[in-house]
Amino acid sequence: MKGKILVAGGMGFIGSHTTVELQNAGFEVVIVDNLSNSNIEVLDGIERITGIRPAFVEADCTDMVAMRRLFDEHKGINGIIDFAASKAVGESMQKPIMYYRNNLNILLNLLELMPEYGVKGFVFSSSCTVYGEPDHNPITEDAPTKKATSPYGATKQVSEDIIADVIRSGSPIKAILLRYFNPIGAHPSAEIGELPNGVPANLVPYLTQTAIGVRKELSIFGNDYDTPDGTCIRDFINVVDLAKAHVVALERMLDNKSEEALEVFNIGTGDGVSVQQLLDAFERSTGVKVPHKYVARRPGDIVKIWADPKKANEVLGWKAEATLDDTMLSAWKWQQRLRERGIM
Ligand code: UFG
Repeated sequence: MKGKILVAGGMGFIGSHTTVELQNAGFEVVIVDNLSNSNIEVLDGIERITGIRPAFVEADCTDMVAMRRLFDEHKGINGIIDFAASKAVGESMQKPIMYYRNNLNILLNLLELMPEYGVKGFVFSSSCTVYGEPDHNPITEDAPTKKATSPYGATKQVSEDIIADVIRSGSPIKAILLRYFNPIGAHPSAEIGELPNGVPANLVPYLTQTAIGVRKELSIFGNDYDTPDGTCIRDFINVVDLAKAHVVALERMLDNKSEEALEVFNIGTGDGVSVQQLLDAFERSTGVKVPHKYVARRPGDIVKIWADPKKANEVLGWKAEATLDDTMLSAWKWQQRLRERGIM
């Protein structure tokens, strides 16, 4: 056993995939999740893939009493990965207090508890949203951050600053901030994947739900941007590749491979792919046509952003491996599995 890791928000989309990769790499996992945006069956999926059922504590990370109880009952936690956060950009515009309270309190609690319980390493789920609209692409970690366009984005920026301040104050912890680009796809086994509540706000779940007939038509928000085909450009990163980045980040801190107490990495493929190209890749790889229409731009959208992942490639020894077609196939397989199970 390499160590015991607390995965906060481990029942969610990225958290569940990361739990699988941690267990595959020999870590013991304790998940804490309040199931506000996930369900208990995720544990079965993780167990079917890895043969191991992770320890699960149903609790809210904003609850200090419950968190202390967790650390007392699960002694010897070496590292924490913090996925626990509200993450819908649109909702955050409607409920800013909820977003700031939830996302920041979770972070503050975890950072306060770490030295108390001797936890050494912290991985934080950050986002390329901290860059705003880049002046240049691909974007490197030292590019300036820009004022967030939503409370959700602001919580990511403030969280990065809080972690830096805590480390600067002399807290005996190490932290790695992973700035994710656009995570998509599902585990190739289709045992776990993304399950958004209600109407999906993100492109790929909307696309796969349209392909299976739950939604009538995919709306493509804007085809008059200053890009080769007029649609926005993103760096779509396979969720299993993304999950693996957390494992190497933790190993780096726990094995004392890093000099710095705080490091930041872009986690993306390095390829800019347009919304139209993604749709084409889905139709090509699955053979399924997706009804779609071109509609007005979505306010607040970044026009084009993709990662320079060189630092993660060289320093972490991590690289995105999945092809876009394989990733689209995995998303489709997962959507079909949801249908078989009568969920969607
Ligand atoms: N899009 C559509 N139709 C849809 C949904 C999305 O055309 O039904 C387009 C968007 O306009 C955008 C692209 O697909 O151009 C990607 O949109 P997503 O909502 O999937 O992803 P975003 O890039 O807007 O947001 C994602 C995460 C956020 C994170 C942000 C950082 O969802 O949590 O990346 O840039 F903050």
